[in-house]
Amino acid sequence: MIKKYTSGSPINTGAMIKEFQGEDISRFPLVSRFDGGKFRFAQSLGKNAIVYGLGEAPRGINKRGWVYESFCSDDPFHTETKSSLYAAHNFIIISGNESLGIFIDFPARIRWDIGYTSSDTCSVTVDGEDFDIYLIYGDTPLSVVKEFRAAIGQSYIPPFWAFGYQQSRWSYPDARAVDGVIEGYDNAQIPLDCVYLDIDYMESYKDFTVDENKFPNFADYVAEKRAQGIHLIPIIDAGVKKEDGYEVYDEGRKKGYFCKNADGTDFEGGVWPGIVGFPDFLRSEVRDWFGSKYRLLTNMGIDGFWNDMNEPAIFYSAKGLDAAIDKASSLKGENLDLGQFFDLKDAFAGISNSPDDYSSIYHLIDGKLVCHDRVHNIYGASMTKAAGEFFEREFGKEKILMFSRASYIGAHRTSGIWFGDNHSWWSHILLNLKMLPSANMCGFLYCGADLGGFNGNASADLVLRFLALGVFTPLMRNHSALGTRPQECYSFENTGDFRDIVQVRYRLIPYLYRLFRKASEENDMIFRPLSFDYPTDPIARECETQLMLGDEAMIAPVYEQNVGGRYVYLPEPMTFYALSGEKVRSEKLDKGVHYVPVALNEVPLFVKEGKQIPVCKPAMRTSLLNTEEIEFL
Ligand code: GLC
Repeated sequence: MIKKYTSGSPINTGAMIKEFQGEDISRFPLVSRFDGGKFRFAQSLGKNAIVYGLGEAPRGINKRGWVYESFCSDDPFHTETKSSLYAAHNFIIISGNESLGIFIDFPARIRWDIGYTSSDTCSVTVDGEDFDIYLIYGDTPLSVVKEFRAAIGQSYIPPFWAFGYQQSRWSYPDARAVDGVIEGYDNAQIPLDCVYLDIDYMESYKDFTVDENKFPNFADYVAEKRAQGIHLIPIIDAGVKKEDGYEVYDEGRKKGYFCKNADGTDFEGGVWPGIVGFPDFLRSEVRDWFGSKYRLLTNMGIDGFWNDMNEPAIFYSAKGLDAAIDKASSLKGENLDLGQFFDLKDAFAGISNSPDDYSSIYHLIDGKLVCHDRVHNIYGASMTKAAGEFFEREFGKEKILMFSRASYIGAHRTSGIWFGDNHSWWSHILLNLKMLPSANMCGFLYCGADLGGFNGNASADLVLRFLALGVFTPLMRNHSALGTRPQECYSFENTGDFRDIVQVRYRLIPYLYRLFRKASEENDMIFRPLSFDYPTDPIARECETQLMLGDEAMIAPVYEQNVGGRYVYLPEPMTFYALSGEKVRSEKLDKGVHYVPVALNEVPLFVKEGKQIPVCKPAMRTSLLNTEEIEFL
């Protein structure tokens, strides 16, 4: 059962597709009050209650014991001290004797103090007075998820080939480098379906342009790669480079499509291309306009995109930069005390993504200028909606691969997400595992992390263990940052181990694809916390390192270096499979704790009794898979 409570005049975020008759917020059943322009409410947490949700957020599957914030943030340090990452997924489930889902449909900041200040209370602060809150009552967390998911609409389904293995890097500088990647994979006999084009394929980082010097005759090149079974996936950034004569910018400026300053002039910020205008994606005519620009690339044969920097990330504004430079000039030659020194340092450190800049951006909503602070969390989702709406109109469903960095619930209907700039850290294998069920609860099924880690240098064993988790994530993409050690599977000495792991993915694609479709069509989750399935099992309830996969299986990746296996908890008897290329090692295990050996070239999978998993023969491309010839684990 879903009950809706409305306060003031909420902005339509497009999150919900079902209509609910809203009651006035004065009838809201939880302890609550308005206080200084904010709405605060609290719900007590039973001693054993688990709090799930918040989608792509830091820390655990059980969110108890920390303060989270809904505020889409461009933050490349995903440490456990953080409160928010790139997305704002305002949905939690408090699961005690019964399960209570809470979805706050509100595009500005929300603070979730989940047993942090007071261990037995979840206190939520909504930073405004115009919002809808939905309370979803159910017997189990999964029943709450399913009811919520039915209300927010069916999750995006990408094309079949998007389940293949994908290689990315910031950046492959030109066509020769891209050819080298494909050759590297083909020579090592490691399957591959997509290669990504990061910002350097563009002319001076201008959206919807291709640098002719780096990629001559781009349309022919795309066709040539398609003939090799490879899809090229270019990046699109939110900001449009300010440059006279650049058609997209000129048009946007002339039509008044960029976000404004309070005085009505265009807001300008610095991102990769230098100064940019930020399209006001919240307006449908701007979405139509920007969405139709993707045609410049789809006309050249491109059928997949990733949308980036759409929180939006703002490295600097002229105003912010000037203030810091003025401060530095005023202190030149001074003998600074420690306070002054750190002030000066902070003046520069605080230039990027600064609250002052966000507060000075305005959007045009229903003819009125609305401060960005009020709508921050739907900016990136609206960019992705622009693209998604265009693709569906133009090509129909399931034709174009699309995922975004920033997101809000609702964007799950037309797009996937990736978990942004993680690190080549062992701890991030687990962090990214924990994000999967939380993202699924919020409708985001097509998702995954930068496998091997984005920032920092990766060791071969880290990449292998990361990939062994990625074998199960719908988006299986290896991506790494500029200046880091090459992370393509063929760049390491033991390419055979990489082949073994990636081939397991291709063997499982018939199963994973069917599982994905079913989860989308039935508002189900692909990955569930063990506690969803074994609510009375005390060990399963606390498990943060394993996940249930569909109704058949459980996954438990190795997440530590220099170990030849891991401890795993089986809440019921299962068969342990160590999958490696076409080799299968298996052992029946009883309920309980076991140490399972897992070599670097093996993918661990645990299948429940009476269940089976279809596998096919591996192939070098998804298009070459023979999905008719199936065996069963
Ligand atoms: C951002 C993205 C990253 C990309 C880089 C350059 O940091 O999150 O994936 O490689 O920008 O475009």
